[in-house]
Amino acid sequence: MKLAPLFLLCLAALPAPAAVNFRTQLWPLLAKNCVDCHRAPHKDPSGKLVEPKGRLRLDGAALILKGGSEGDAVVAGDPDKSSLYQRILLPPDHEDVMPPKGKGKMFSFDDSELLKQWIIEGASFGDWKGLDDGPPAALKKPAPKAADPLSAGATAAPEAAKEAVRQLGALVTPVMADSPLLRVEWISGASQITDLQIDLLAPLAGSLAELDLSDTKITDAALASIAKLPRLTWLNLNNTAVSDAGVAHLKTLTNLSYLNLHSTNVSDAALTSLAPLRKLRQVYLWKTRVTPSQAATFAKSIPDLKVTID
Ligand code: HEC
Repeated sequence: MKLAPLFLLCLAALPAPAAVNFRTQLWPLLAKNCVDCHRAPHKDPSGKLVEPKGRLRLDGAALILKGGSEGDAVVAGDPDKSSLYQRILLPPDHEDVMPPKGKGKMFSFDDSELLKQWIIEGASFGDWKGLDDGPPAALKKPAPKAADPLSAGATAAPEAAKEAVRQLGALVTPVMADSPLLRVEWISGASQITDLQIDLLAPLAGSLAELDLSDTKITDAALASIAKLPRLTWLNLNNTAVSDAGVAHLKTLTNLSYLNLHSTNVSDAALTSLAPLRKLRQVYLWKTRVTPSQAATFAKSIPDLKVTID
């Protein structure tokens, strides 16, 4: 038997490496480190209008592709021509480095590699749209009838409720253009958020679908309130003090598909509480007390569930 064809067959059977997912892997990095300065014109606390820096907005797919005052920020397939990538690579004291010197945390090596890989793969945003300038009001089409029951039954959050959450330093955005569903995350100041503030999310229960509480100071008590946000599909609790007792509350979140418990105090008992959440597809358990064997058993107990433990 010839060896070469067999070898080729084996190669063909290898799964292709997963493409970088903008929504889950890159957007959180941009939201945290860049969007504060590169977002829609807004008023600062003194009432002064603040324009996006370098006329570049990074809070929407179309806006990222539009580029800034120096032209393209992203050239699909070409990291060398993509200033978005080039600027984060500059030495920390370079005058053009992003975020500017002393104005935020630089991308780690792994994160910059991720951004580079995403550009090489064609800079696809997948289903992520973020914000856009929108067509003029008169041309605005009515929101498309959403096929999924989650958006269909969603109620637009009261402006005052959204504003109250923004006052806590959160970024409150639609999960997709024209969607009534909301995403809440902290670009900065996450460490100021404690259980006390979590109750302010309750008025958003009709529309809150994605919630990033990573690096906040919440404890198990907050998860009792979060359990009353039935539309949550995406929840990030990375690097918080939550434990098994808190996770036990989450069994009401039957729409949850992404749950990040990386660097928390959870153990195997948490997995028992998560068993009824049949829509879970991704669970992160790195740096927890969950044992690899229980993680593996759990992964097999829900169809298409991917559990990451290391
Ligand atoms: C503290 C505010 C601040 C933060 C945070 C910040 N930027 Fe900037 N950015 C600026 C300013 C000011 C300019 C315009 C001056 C210049 O070109 O250096 C700019 C310009 C840019 C440009 C060039 C736009 C153009 O066409 O002129 C890119 C690309 C960019 N930033 C990317 C980023 C990325 C990526 C991040 C996050 C890692 C980031 N920025 C974070 C303030 C900021």
